[in-house]
Amino acid sequence: MAAGPSAPSGPDLTQGILLGVLTDNGNLLGHVGDEAVLVARRGDEYFAIGATCTHYSGPLAEGLMVGDTVRCPWHHACFSLRTGEAVEPPALSPVARWRVEQRDGKIFVREKIEPAPARARAKTQAAPGRVVIVGGGAAGFAAAEMLRREGFGGSLTMVSADDAPPYDRPNCSKDYLAGNAPEEWMPLRPPEFYRDNSIDLRLAAEVASIDPRGRSISLKDGKSLPFDKLLLATGAEPIRLDIPGANAPHVFVLRSLADSRAIIERAKGAKRAVVLGASFIGLEAAAALRAREVEVHVAAPERAPLERIFGGEMAQFVRALHEEHGVTFHMEQKAAAIDGARVRLESGQTLEADLVIVGIGVRPRTTLAERAGLQIDHGVSVNEYLQTSAPDIFAAGDIARWPDPYSSSRMRIEHWVVAERQGQTAARNMLGAGEKFTQVPFFWSQHYDVPINYVGHAEKWDDIAVEGNITGRDCVLRYRQGGRVLAVASIYRDRESLEAEVAMERDSRV
Ligand SMILES: Cc1cc2nc3c(=O)[nH]c(=O)nc-3n(C[C@H](O)[C@H](O)[C@H](O)COP(=O)(O)OP(=O)(O)OC[C@H]3O[C@@H](n4cnc5c(N)ncnc54)[C@H](O)[C@@H]3O)c2cc1C
Ligand code: FES
Repeated sequence: MAAGPSAPSGPDLTQGILLGVLTDNGNLLGHVGDEAVLVARRGDEYFAIGATCTHYSGPLAEGLMVGDTVRCPWHHACFSLRTGEAVEPPALSPVARWRVEQRDGKIFVREKIEPAPARARAKTQAAPGRVVIVGGGAAGFAAAEMLRREGFGGSLTMVSADDAPPYDRPNCSKDYLAGNAPEEWMPLRPPEFYRDNSIDLRLAAEVASIDPRGRSISLKDGKSLPFDKLLLATGAEPIRLDIPGANAPHVFVLRSLADSRAIIERAKGAKRAVVLGASFIGLEAAAALRAREVEVHVAAPERAPLERIFGGEMAQFVRALHEEHGVTFHMEQKAAAIDGARVRLESGQTLEADLVIVGIGVRPRTTLAERAGLQIDHGVSVNEYLQTSAPDIFAAGDIARWPDPYSSSRMRIEHWVVAERQGQTAARNMLGAGEKFTQVPFFWSQHYDVPINYVGHAEKWDDIAVEGNITGRDCVLRYRQGGRVLAVASIYRDRESLEAEVAMERDSRV
């Protein structure tokens, strides 16, 4: 991921800019000293906030203003113009806020405003004393962070089977795996965050069972923990191959930071890798290994990579893009056995491999919920408030199947941003907010220097309307069914992607 604006550009805002320069709903990029500042106008109000997204430094001036917020063009984080708060992930930290002075027909920005403290929340009957979160991934972390942001003062425990504190999982198959992201980029927060926010983070701790009536959980080590509200956010686990040799030490799946590190270690001495599965993770891993100059072969049963998600034309583009970078595809092929440094395909062909990555999909981790007697329906069933069939237990992220208002169907989706947003909504609802989860799904995927953004969700469609040029890497694809746009994929058309998201949100509310 490229860095955002580095040298400050635009006018020096300490010298003032003419009021008339900003039209209603317009914004302007300027700077105060070395800091890039976005000045925005809404009606008669003027705002000034940091112009660089706190997720991966996206340029907010190229984003979209919606009411008194601005959305980042890269991965659709949303910031309040009034407070600088990151109101929608993937950004979690606020941007700076600046005082705007109006004088002599000009506006001046000079002084930074101290960040607002956590919201003081009146203790209500609904506010729980003890919240326990099972899972330290996207949904679990976002929930814990939001509980404290909302001023929740009760006890907060996060139990994670992972041995690392919550980290940037999407990067495990992208820059980090490619060797382009330093270790410091990976944790979502430094270790002191948990101490300073009184979050009892229990790592390498697996929850064995839940007692919904007695409101307690039991850990594998025999300890138990009582709760008033529980969030289940156990994510998904990679599907393993069931063929001879699948458990050999040079065969890896890619879900965790530990998996990514193990692949990096193996890749150091590897000349050839075979990736089984042309999924997002398989292809991103292929790209990362190419960056490490490992020869990569991808074998998968479908006709073209990601065809089921994007349709034929985009799938051909994705294939050609990887081929340009030296990846060899063996499509409509399945692995039959892994025999030492050789992967045998069902066709009889063999591929040499010092390293094999299996990326053939994931399965939601629903066992705990099933054993606790919670309602299951291709995932953990939740209502619009993300509450399971046990009212004190919420579920979010890859395991949750929720009623999606835009498609009027129940949905379970494996996207980072969806998991974070659900974690936040569940957190507020555990505090009694009564907020429906209505956000439109969004994901991004990165292949070399080509980012693909996707808003909405389409499992099938009547047609795909293509604007622009897919091979020219400048396009918007609208997946339509019955004349309605179900999803929009885009390459370097960030504004259209944001506009599509806003249009779908409006439609959801109707
Ligand atoms: C390599 C990789 C790259 C990805 N890239 C993207 C991307 O670019 N864009 C995108 O939108 N999505 C991406 N995803 C998907 C995204 O990361 C997931 O959708 C998201 O992490 C789901 O969040 P979650 O909180 O539901 O689960 P997770 O983030 O998987 O977290 C689950 C947590 O639960 C813990 N856990 C499980 N069982 C137990 C138990 N019994 N007791 C205690 N703890 C338990 C786990 O240890 C883990 O901490 C990627 C996924 C992977 C693996
Ligand atoms: S860089 Fe802004 S959302 Fe990712």
